[in-house]
Amino acid sequence: MTVYFSETTDFYKGNTPDMLLSKYGSPLFIYSEEIFRNRCREMTGMVPYEKFQVTYSIKANSNLTLLKIAHEEGLHADAMSPGEIYVLEKAGFSPEEIFYISNNVSDEEMLFAIERGIAVSVDSLSQLEKFGKLNPGGDVSVRFNPGLGAGHHKKVVTAGKETKFGINLDKADQVKEILKKHKLKLVGINQHIGSLFMDGENYLQGVRSVLETASQFKDLEFVDFGGGFGIPYRKQEGQQRLELESFGNEFAKILNEWTDSYGSKILFRSEPGRYISAESCILLGTVHVRKSNYDRLYIGTDLGFNTLIRPAMYDSHHDIEVYRQGKLVKEEAGETVDIVGNICETGDIMAHERLMPIINEGDILGVMDAGAYGYSMSSNYNNRLRPAEVLIRTDGSVNLIRRRDTLEDLLKNF
Ligand code: LLP
Repeated sequence: MTVYFSETTDFYKGNTPDMLLSKYGSPLFIYSEEIFRNRCREMTGMVPYEKFQVTYSIKANSNLTLLKIAHEEGLHADAMSPGEIYVLEKAGFSPEEIFYISNNVSDEEMLFAIERGIAVSVDSLSQLEKFGKLNPGGDVSVRFNPGLGAGHHKKVVTAGKETKFGINLDKADQVKEILKKHKLKLVGINQHIGSLFMDGENYLQGVRSVLETASQFKDLEFVDFGGGFGIPYRKQEGQQRLELESFGNEFAKILNEWTDSYGSKILFRSEPGRYISAESCILLGTVHVRKSNYDRLYIGTDLGFNTLIRPAMYDSHHDIEVYRQGKLVKEEAGETVDIVGNICETGDIMAHERLMPIINEGDILGVMDAGAYGYSMSSNYNNRLRPAEVLIRTDGSVNLIRRRDTLEDLLKNF
């Protein structure tokens, strides 16, 4: 039995894909306020420990309206660049609610955060030195690499032996020397082992290992364990969700045991990105062509990899729904197709050898779970215009939350 996400969640709330495309143009990112808020709440309620803060990793999706909703839901945020800090400020986050996780940055970038009173994490001895020179006597956080990573693809494993991130645990003594030299106060320790796990064991292993390192440092204010919480991208086949309740309980148990021996109930944080925003969005596009080339049947759409690069970049799977005359097409049997976009590269494939219902020209396709690393990694490649983004409110009303690019936008920097 195929599971249709838009139907089981009442995603469109009475709006139909064809109405939305005729009003806002194709392709189009559509968000559900209800799902976005629910995911924020699931994360804030996950760990039964009194000082647990959820820091939304906005690289997944930094639409201003969604950031304001995350802020209303009590989330803090992590930023990876001055640009992310800038939009967070515009969305109403205060400096205390932003954590700047720097990686290989210039003096100017580091100062951008320091001058605003935003907490900074550094992830190399060299950058710790730089921070010490720029802000002697200041507070700093250090990102460690616990030596083990996790993730759905090698490109997104951000700890372990083959990644540029973090300071190795065996360099703790050198960290201490630099802290002393510049009279820095180590207020926090952070890590991020990688993106997308569906079984929390590796994450909890990372938690245990970073806490062991944290024990060596006195008077810490927080430890931040990073993001990576996965979502089921294969719901149509019945893939189950990450089991948050037992995970959260196990997590809290580790934290409580550690604080008992550390002697203080410090703040703990996690940095989910994908979990917050992925499932709140369906990317809609239009089928313009059916054609066969030698043995393959191609469905040609306006969903180029400039709109959602994950399948082309990581061979990622996104479930796809077909809509015709405003209705979900539910034929179980169909044909095996390649769903491709309109970009001049053979790798411009949204779904490879996928068994789909029969798709006709003029049908609308909905790419599920497109809310994380979708718009935020979209581009103007081939001078294509990035789509608009709209939000279906909890009451079913629809707001445009980012307009489509215009042709003039392509020339605005000249
Ligand atoms: N914290 C740090 C320091 C990170 O580098 C990341 C993601 C996160 C938190 C959030 O991770 P999440 O909870 O979203 O897994 N473009 C890739 C994912 C790249 C993740 C990069 N870092 C994708 O589309 O799968």
